[in-house]
Amino acid sequence: RYTGRTEIVSFRKSYHGSTHGSMSVSGNEIKKQAFRPLLPDVRFIEFNVMKDIEQITTSTACVIVETVQGDAGVRIPSQAYMKALRAKCNETGALLILDEIQCGMGRTGTLFAFEQFGIVPDILTTAKAFGGGLPIGAFISDRKIMRSLTHDPMLGHITTFGGNPVCCASALATLEVIEEEKLLEQVEAKGKLFERLLKHPQIKEVRRIGLMFAIDFDSAERVNKIVEQAKQRGIITYWFLSHPYSFRIAPPLTITEEQIKESCASILLAIDNA
Ligand SMILES: Cc1ncc(COP(=O)(O)O)c(C=O)c1O
Repeated sequence: RYTGRTEIVSFRKSYHGSTHGSMSVSGNEIKKQAFRPLLPDVRFIEFNVMKDIEQITTSTACVIVETVQGDAGVRIPSQAYMKALRAKCNETGALLILDEIQCGMGRTGTLFAFEQFGIVPDILTTAKAFGGGLPIGAFISDRKIMRSLTHDPMLGHITTFGGNPVCCASALATLEVIEEEKLLEQVEAKGKLFERLLKHPQIKEVRRIGLMFAIDFDSAERVNKIVEQAKQRGIITYWFLSHPYSFRIAPPLTITEEQIKESCASILLAIDNA
């Protein structure tokens, strides 16, 4: 609507949702198979690979990317890569859309993850933690881009539950709590404590940014058993859609030091017994 172009560039192993549009730009082929045909003109490139950025051209309407890929197993890009992506979008006139539905709202230690990469997107999406437990998602952009959705046709971009006052009040209260309780300042120390306590010979790799973790093992079967064992010990975790070799840790930012110690002890027991 804004650029008059049709091509969308997205990333392999990305996840943006299960509605028709968001599934079309998600990179998990197995999940998409049953729902074709999907949106045409979507080009998939490799995340955090510099040379693939060349595939963004003046035909590209937008590039949609998770600042930190979540369901690909917590893939953290380099700052140089994100800056090159921003520069290529500026050069070609493509809009840069950052999906922070999973990595936003303080999960990585800053309110939005992009703050750590020295770039600003044209469009930002947020949901999940944004509502503090109530269902709300948001599309954030500047006035010029937002205005392009208000006319021709009039009411061409509306939704029943958009702007629901109860959900908006919850989202506002969530932002206030994050600020008043200084939650962002605690994220890195809490993340480091998890990382220090979670040592086990079966763990192959830990990827972490703030309080967002992927813990890698040698097989999906092992991860399945650990998830089951963890559940029996009161820990809710899960594997990743595009990376079943890891389970995730994404605790509430309000978790205490004591709770982190208890959780890690339970997780280590779950690994021992899996
Ligand atoms: C990065 C990302 N984008 C989008 C979504 C989809 O959000 P929703 O299910 O609210 O449409 C998810 C859900 O897991 C996600 O992780």
